[in-house]
Amino acid sequence: MKITFIGHGYVGLVTAAVFADFGNKVYVIGHTKEKIDNLKKGISPFYEPGLEELVKKNLKAKRLIFTLDYKPAIPESDVVFIAVGTPTTKMGDADLSTVLDVAEKIGKNLEGYTVVATKSTVPAGANKKVQRILEETKHQGAEVDYASVPEFLREGSAISDTINPDRIVIGTESKRAQEVLVKLHKSINAPLVLTNFETAELIKYAANSFLALKISYANAIAKLSELIHADALKVLEGIGMDKRIGNLFLSPGPGYGGSCFPKDVRALISIAKDNDYAFSLLEEVEIINQQARRDIVRKARGILGDVRGKNIGILGLAFKANTDDMRDAAAIDIISWLQNDGAKITAFDPKAEESAREVLPKITYADEVYSVMDGADLLIILTEWNEFKDINFEEVKKRMKTPNIIDGRNLYDPKILREYGFNYIGVGR
Ligand SMILES: NC(=O)c1ccc[n+]([C@@H]2O[C@H](COP(=O)([O-])OP(=O)(O)OC[C@H]3O[C@@H](n4cnc5c(N)ncnc54)[C@H](O)[C@@H]3O)[C@@H](O)[C@H]2O)c1
Repeated sequence: MKITFIGHGYVGLVTAAVFADFGNKVYVIGHTKEKIDNLKKGISPFYEPGLEELVKKNLKAKRLIFTLDYKPAIPESDVVFIAVGTPTTKMGDADLSTVLDVAEKIGKNLEGYTVVATKSTVPAGANKKVQRILEETKHQGAEVDYASVPEFLREGSAISDTINPDRIVIGTESKRAQEVLVKLHKSINAPLVLTNFETAELIKYAANSFLALKISYANAIAKLSELIHADALKVLEGIGMDKRIGNLFLSPGPGYGGSCFPKDVRALISIAKDNDYAFSLLEEVEIINQQARRDIVRKARGILGDVRGKNIGILGLAFKANTDDMRDAAAIDIISWLQNDGAKITAFDPKAEESAREVLPKITYADEVYSVMDGADLLIILTEWNEFKDINFEEVKKRMKTPNIIDGRNLYDPKILREYGFNYIGVGR
């Protein structure tokens, strides 16, 4: 099949590369010349394990074509996926301006029969707007059906998530579009959820909000465990063994972040409000998440007293491991609060330094793990990168001014760290 993706972010580029690898001819339309020029050389605008290799392989096979132009990509394509960003507006709902803008450009270039599908996360109601734009802008003779195919990939494991998803959701009112999309996904062995547009979109928001809820629940249990001297990790392990609950997304830490959970929880609250329903459960999820971030700062103040002038080393900046994505990362809030209190911050992240410099310009960036500890009064772990798990604690202690560790990801064994002589504080233990 011939496919076009509009947008080459985490969703657009990864799914485009995977569909090209399945043997399809895939166009990827961007809007920044520099990024498209780099992509033509196989250079990705962001870090995702295995992605550059997959892009290079499919560029060489001439199955993947990067372009700034809507022609010939749109007229040639059987399916066009919209995969641009849908950030949060000041009101908390999804900003659809880019989706609507590209819908107009797609509409003007349609020829023959085409299925246009959103991979971007958009609220119910967006379908009517996009559909109207496509119908109003297309030439006579062009036929178009619209669908929602929400994406569930996770940054850090995006390629394997796209090849082996838990399910494929296809939301459309058109039987013909449904058949085309089912055929396109035939190389993927996953259950299909065939439904209408509104249901498909609510599945996406409901899934992300439920996962965020699990994380906040784990953080609330961690807080309570600290107050009553229980071990939250054992409590969560104990409840996670119950098949009805499951053990995933039950790790306490500095709260969820990234480009999806915070914005999708906010958007679902907003969708509910627009329909006169107060989804206060999700408002509480947000409050607990913010408290989890503040709790790290409270613990730092507890250890150091006044943090003014103190050297604080930070391991990990990205919102989670295996990505360079800094969008809504807990590190941004935590570091900014500590800096406002006058702390001096030195940080290391294996992949996110470049994106972190844009949002945290006033910290010192170390080029390897151990330099972060030199002269530090306190070390805080904020991202669960594998390379932080096996550090040499003798070396850490030798380099630090005072051996204080706040382990925001519970990477280390408190008993072992205390034996090394660290003042160790985890989350919920
Ligand atoms: N990142 C994830 O893990 C993930 C997972 C599932 C769903 N989603 C959803 O998918 C959508 C995209 O997310 P993302 O993380 O890939 O975003 P992103 O910010 O990484 O990528 C957005 C892309 O859109 C492009 N773009 C912006 N304006 C454009 C224009 N006018 N013309 C062409 N391209 C344009 C940008 O250059 C960029 O390549 C969002 O709605 C998001 O909620 C994201």
